[in-house]
Amino acid sequence: MALDVLLGLQWGDEGKGKIVDFLANQYDIIARFQGGPNAGHTIVIEDKKFVLHTIPSGIFRKDVQNLIGNGVVVDPIILSKEIAGLKAAGLSMDNLLISSKAHLILPTHRWLDAASEASKGKQKIGSTLKGIGPTYMDKTGRNGLRVGDVHTPNFKEKFDALTKKHKQLLEIYPSVEYDYENEVVEWHKAIELLKTIPVVDSQYYINNALDQGKKVLAEGAQGSMLDIDFGTYPFVTSSNTVTAGVCTGLGVAPKRVGKVLGITKAYCTRVGSGPFPTELHGEVGEEIRKLGGEFGATTGRPRRCGWIDIPQLKYTIMINGVDELCVTKVDILNTFDQISFADSYQINGEKTDELPFDLEGSEITPNYESMPGWNCDLEEMSTRNELPEALLNYINKLEEMLGVPVKYISKGPERKNLIVG
Ligand code: GDP
Ligand code: IMO
Ligand code: MG
Repeated sequence: MALDVLLGLQWGDEGKGKIVDFLANQYDIIARFQGGPNAGHTIVIEDKKFVLHTIPSGIFRKDVQNLIGNGVVVDPIILSKEIAGLKAAGLSMDNLLISSKAHLILPTHRWLDAASEASKGKQKIGSTLKGIGPTYMDKTGRNGLRVGDVHTPNFKEKFDALTKKHKQLLEIYPSVEYDYENEVVEWHKAIELLKTIPVVDSQYYINNALDQGKKVLAEGAQGSMLDIDFGTYPFVTSSNTVTAGVCTGLGVAPKRVGKVLGITKAYCTRVGSGPFPTELHGEVGEEIRKLGGEFGATTGRPRRCGWIDIPQLKYTIMINGVDELCVTKVDILNTFDQISFADSYQINGEKTDELPFDLEGSEITPNYESMPGWNCDLEEMSTRNELPEALLNYINKLEEMLGVPVKYISKGPERKNLIVG
């Protein structure tokens, strides 16, 4: 059995959580493979809204196992709050598992994140301040603490040694305020709760499951343009968000990867700093933000909005090996007379549909095309045939330009607002 992948093709917040939740009952296991609580995956079930940060979006399906994979970085405090919130809503956590090799975010990682951002001034990344970068730095620097360590007798000493190192580092940065004593107490309390989650070796767990014919879906976090290697570096996150990250983030061989489903909004958004060629600075961008409720699920920051960017999508489709597309939030464009998209870029007088080395440093002018909008409500429509012609024209145009079929069209936050096929 192959392992399928679902991931975002833009700068995050494409609606991954909603689609994973919808598809989850077709799978035995949903597994997060990278990122941490910088993610905010929103799921709306019968008017109830949940935002998941670390827990996979299959948690609402009780027959589905949800694995936090080895590539994920885990903040025990955030995870324990997330669990408490879900339990309060009546959910069982019996179907949650965590990899022994997942790295732990310490309170000092968060402060280092804040201090690093403060040191950058205008060049700051706009990080979510969840300690993601410093935790992955300790992972690759071979200093990190992992979930499996919490069960070892000298865990406390390891924690103290690492925080001591971090405190020395914090002294060379601009000062940030933190309450060491209280936060550390809270963190260790949260570790006790983390100890109650069944720990697995994700590489064995996933491979054995696949050998037994079980179906696994890997759930991406962030978006491909935030990938540490292929995103708009340095304005990226600190993990591989692309399909390749599934292999290292769960311990599966590339040949086990099956179908790749790429999610894109019908327009484009970005939260945080960094280049965004099709960003709209005027009224239209403001209108998209307002209608789309484009405010960060993790930080509440306003998301920057713009038209869909075809060169950017072609790039992430290529890197991820996308087989099928899902276009979300088409309903947000219901009232627009014209829908625009950038079909190529103008860089130094040359037309291209390839992304340059440095999007930030290049003078990019997107070449826009427009199509008539559909100007109607889509609420009652439940099949592709019922959709207005102008929307179908837009979808067909996307398929034609991107060379990948659109399998899902999402037209509202709830499970039922999805057109399949
Ligand atoms: P994720 O990080 O990719 O899971 O996406 P987020 O949850 O951060 O942001 C997507 C937002 O759009 C959430 O508020 C979702 O509830 C909402 N959403 C998802 N799909 C649709 C859709 O088709 N239409 C509308 N109106 N909202 C949607
Ligand atoms: P989901 O999974 C959108 C952005 C931050 C910042 C940059 C680096 O909900 O799509 P980090 O905290 O990772 O060091 O921040 O990445 N970012 C996201 N933007 N959605 C996300 O996750 C994001 N996770 C990180 O805004 O620009
Ligand atoms: Mg999000």
